[in-house]
Formats: sequence, structure tokens, C-alpha cells
Amino acid sequence: MIVRIDVGGIDDLTDWARLRAMLWPDDDATSHRSDLGQFLARPESAIGLLARDSKGTALGFAEAVLRADYVNGCDTSPVAFLEGLFVIEASRRLGVGRGLIEAVEAWARSKGCRELASDALIDNTAAHAVHAKLDFAETERVVYFRKLLEDAPALS
Ligand SMILES: CC(C)(COP(=O)(O)OP(=O)(O)OC[C@H]1O[C@@H](n2cnc3c(N)ncnc32)[C@H](O)[C@@H]1OP(=O)(O)O)[C@@H](O)C(=O)NCCC(=O)NCCS
Repeated sequence: MIVRIDVGGIDDLTDWARLRAMLWPDDDATSHRSDLGQFLARPESAIGLLARDSKGTALGFAEAVLRADYVNGCDTSPVAFLEGLFVIEASRRLGVGRGLIEAVEAWARSKGCRELASDALIDNTAAHAVHAKLDFAETERVVYFRKLLEDAPALS
């Protein structure tokens, strides 16, 4: 299968938002479309890549950002961070995901990065396997916590 990978832009918003809603279904395509507007407003530090077949059908996407804060397991800064990687089910296991990651790596290198980082939920073992196949090394496992802070009682 011939796959084209291009930097996502305004013309890709409909397809891109639809793919995003498949990966992150807590938000619908309309909400993702609005988020993408903000994403596209920072081209110096964020990139989206769209994979399409020879007919132009969108097959998947990858998003990455530059992170200057500490990134678990990394030694350099800024780090390129893979925020999302998705390929539609019918096109999986054909190398599309690998192609998207290679394009993210090329962008990260062009930004002077020496590390590309990523994360996956602890029970998403398929994602762990894909990361390993794509030459990512596991660094750390973390558990996030939060505590809701109620309004403090007024001091007397
Ligand atoms: C993860 C995902 C993007 C992979 O896309 P893909 O186009 O199928 O990936 P590729 O065909 O390029 O495969 C890349 C490598 O991972 C391997 N791989 C792909 N899916 C795999 C799976 N479910 N389990 C184990 N290995 C897998 C492939 O065999 C390949 O390795 P190889 O080249 O050594 O054979 C796709 O399965 C997906 O969208 N999953 C749901 C979303 C998700 O979990 N995203 C985050 C994952 S990092």
C-alpha cells in the first residue's frame, strides 16, 4: 500500500478531528476540531502528521510537541513528546504507524532534539509492544494521584 504522510494543516481538520475522536472518544469531533485550532497556532513547538492512502483517505495520525519541562526518564531538554498515535483498524499492521513515527523523528531532529519520549496506560500492553517494536525503551512506570482542595476555612 502506498501511504503519503504530510504535515496536518487547516485543510485536514475534518479528517484529523474524526481520527482524534476515535483515539480520544471522551470528546467529539467538533470539540477536537476546536482543540486543533489551538494546536495549529503553535507550529514552532507542535506537529501533527496525517497518513493517507493513494486516494487521499485518511488512515491515521501522529501528534508531537516539544516539552521543556522535565520528562520522566529523559536526560535532555527540550524533548520531543509523542502525544498521540493512531491508525484506523482496517489499515493496521501495514507499517503506517511506523511511517508516522519516522516522520515525527525527522521533525524532532530538525528541532535539535536528541530524545523522543512517549507514554501509554499501564494496561495498554499492545501499545507497549508497539513502542518496543519501534525501538522505544521503557523508562519508568508511574501512578498519578490528585487531591481535591476545598476552599480553605476563613481564618478567624
Ligand atoms: C498502535 C498503532 C498506531 C500501530 O499502528 P500500525 O500501523 O498497526 O503499526 P505498524 O504496522 O507500523 O507496526 C509497527 C510495529 O509494531 C508491531 N505491532 C503493531 N501492532 C501491534 C500489536 N497490537 N501488538 C504487537 N505488535 C504490534 C508491528 O508488527 C510492527 O513491528 P515490525 O515492523 O517489527 O513488524 C495502532 O495499532 C493503533 O492505532 N492502536 C490504537 C491506538 C493506540 O493504542 N495508540 C497508542 C499506541 S503507541
